[in-house]
Amino acid sequence: MPPNPLVLGVETSCDDTACAVVDGEGRVISTVVSSQLAVHRPFGGVVPEMASREHLRNWPAVSREALETAGVELGEVDLIAATRGPGLIGALLVGLSLGKAMAYGLDKPFCAIHHLEGHLYSPFLGTAGEPADSPPAGFLGLVVSGGHTTLFEVDGEETRTLAETRDDAMGEVFDKVGKRLGLPYPQGPVVDELAESGNPSRSPLPVARCSDRSLDFSYSGLKSQTLVEIERLERQGVDTDLGAVADGEMPSPVLDLIAGFRAAAVAQILDRLERLHRRQPIELLAVSGGVAANRLLRRELVDWAASRSVELRLVPLVYAGDNAAMIAHAALIRHRRGLVDDPLVADAASRIPL
Ligand code: KG4
Ligand code: ZN
Repeated sequence: MPPNPLVLGVETSCDDTACAVVDGEGRVISTVVSSQLAVHRPFGGVVPEMASREHLRNWPAVSREALETAGVELGEVDLIAATRGPGLIGALLVGLSLGKAMAYGLDKPFCAIHHLEGHLYSPFLGTAGEPADSPPAGFLGLVVSGGHTTLFEVDGEETRTLAETRDDAMGEVFDKVGKRLGLPYPQGPVVDELAESGNPSRSPLPVARCSDRSLDFSYSGLKSQTLVEIERLERQGVDTDLGAVADGEMPSPVLDLIAGFRAAAVAQILDRLERLHRRQPIELLAVSGGVAANRLLRRELVDWAASRSVELRLVPLVYAGDNAAMIAHAALIRHRRGLVDDPLVADAASRIPL
């Protein structure tokens, strides 16, 4: 392996076809994410079988663009990495099989990466051609996405789950509430943007707790309460079909409800962090995943961390959602530790613990 190896990452765990080239210092040389939004949007969510087929269709152009932008030939790549799970099994199989085939065919080392490991280390990626920062031996990782709401304690090569959602993931409830309001998929970013114009104190919702001792998350209660409130507004004659309403004419009771929903969802994250911090002071908190793009969550985390002298690493917005740079970067970290996988053996799994 050369001193500055080139890593090719492949990510196809859900509905984004992604390929990236990262160098030995974790610098992102190229990153391409091809969204399948237009394909899934008419169905209001991801259709698994269509996602697999779209990955196959998109891969040639996506990989070509990633290599051309990086200015490298496939044969010049030193390490190949692909997501092995969790995710949609058919979608995972496409990217993992491509990664395994390239590694085997080119006789290059291969890393099969856990999707959450990619997110977990993504706050250390640099932007604008900067190298990645080396993750410290110990830190607390919060991954908030469409499938996960998990707190990890990283201690060297050990990663322990401290808390996770007992029901829905945070991004999932943003999507479901948005879908009920007639918004297009993915609803999370739209709900976040609309919440900026609402007043949360006019529609407060309670912050869920599993028990005084548990740090686990729970979002299904908040989802149900929000759906009940939407019905209440409809009974009062308020038009809640936001998909059909022009910008600037959104009914303010709905915007207030959305703002109240977002405030309660974010407050739950801060509640768990505060309780954990009181038990064992957090030194460094690294926050990642699609929901780490949430405006209120970012603002609240910055304030909270500053007032508690916690070092905060928020994933750069470009790497919050699914991407292959985080997969290549996680592979680089694994490879430095001497961990590689046999491309003839590595297998995909829709559910796997980290
Ligand atoms: O990490 P990600 O791209 O895919 C998964 O691994 O799940 O996260 C996607 C999720 C979706 O549920 C999406 O609606 C949500 O992240 N999301 C947001 C925001 N941006 C993306 N949720 C709330 N606020 C946002 N700004
Ligand atoms: Zn993800």
